[in-house]
Amino acid sequence: MSGTGTDYQVCIAGTGSYVPETILTNEDLAKRVDTSDEWIFTRTGIRERRIAAEGEYTSHMASAAARKALEQAGLEASDVQLIIVATITPDTLTPATACYVQQQIGATAAVAFDISAACSGFLYAMKISKRLIADGAFENALIIGAEKLSAFVNWEDRTTCVLFGDGAGAAVLRRAAPEEGSVLATEMGTDGRLTHLLNIPGGGSACPITASNVGDNLSALAMQGKEVFKHAVNRMKEAAETVIQRAGLEAEDIACVIPHQANLRIIDAIADRLSVPNDRVFINLDKYGNTSAAAVAIALDEANRSGAFKRGDHIVLVVFGAGLTWAAAALRW
Ligand code: UT7
Repeated sequence: MSGTGTDYQVCIAGTGSYVPETILTNEDLAKRVDTSDEWIFTRTGIRERRIAAEGEYTSHMASAAARKALEQAGLEASDVQLIIVATITPDTLTPATACYVQQQIGATAAVAFDISAACSGFLYAMKISKRLIADGAFENALIIGAEKLSAFVNWEDRTTCVLFGDGAGAAVLRRAAPEEGSVLATEMGTDGRLTHLLNIPGGGSACPITASNVGDNLSALAMQGKEVFKHAVNRMKEAAETVIQRAGLEAEDIACVIPHQANLRIIDAIADRLSVPNDRVFINLDKYGNTSAAAVAIALDEANRSGAFKRGDHIVLVVFGAGLTWAAAALRW
């Protein structure tokens, strides 16, 4: 029970997603850097990714996804009480991208802020908003994972530029009636000793971009892929097991696992370690690449709309990213 004495059930009332129109295939990339469709697909599972148009910002993609989630939830933008945008590619360092979204969708009554937890951000937002609704502080929340990673990639570095893409996913959380679904259990973790494994070194106060370093690609993502891979598998497995256990479930009760979409080999390793059959694991990595905070949110929406699970089914979301950060959630839909 919470400190206020209330502990409302919280459900996901609607989901939405948006990806930009422009498709960048592995073959397209092979014309720019020394790579091939064969290398990219066998090492990652990615075939293509979406790239935002010029003048299309993270907030625009976030708002497009948000409108679809609100429509499915049957909630007017003016009734939204809380907006949390998870992103590492905000429109501006300040104000928060959530403020632009509030303006664009007309959610004038909402409190709006961003969180920065890389690929784990959407599930961090889910845990935060679930608690705030359960406690009675808010009746509903619009949570969004949105990224324009194409603006933070070194397009000459084949070890990173083949991995990432742009897009946004959103969900509306609200107080649930007893017969409705529920966010059953959530888990988050961080290991700040490993900040060096995956980061954007420049553009912040530690290393502003100046006339003398502007050519050094310091505002591009830098990653030690092999190390990140190892931690990703272990942390995601542990986080998923934790929420499955806390929700009082067994692996065979899970109708659908929706993992962070970074690498098919990571996803397969987790499914294997959790003893969840591959056909219960939702994958759209081939179409979008790694869209960081947006990835699990887009996947949740596509899984929802394609009927990968139905009312009453149990699903598990699990993510991992820079920080290092990780998170998981077990839901009854
Ligand atoms: O979203 C946040 C979490 N992120 C992740 O979970 C990502 C985790 N890491 C990974 O997914 C993988 O480590 C990568 C996909 C990034 C890389 O796969 P890998 O199997 O770990 O490859 P590697 O970095 O060990 O590179 C193997 C070889 C190297 O050549 P040598 O040194 O063996 O001659 C690379 O230079 O592949 C080379 N290589 C490429 N070759 C063709 C690296 N990138 C490319 C490329 N095309 N794009």
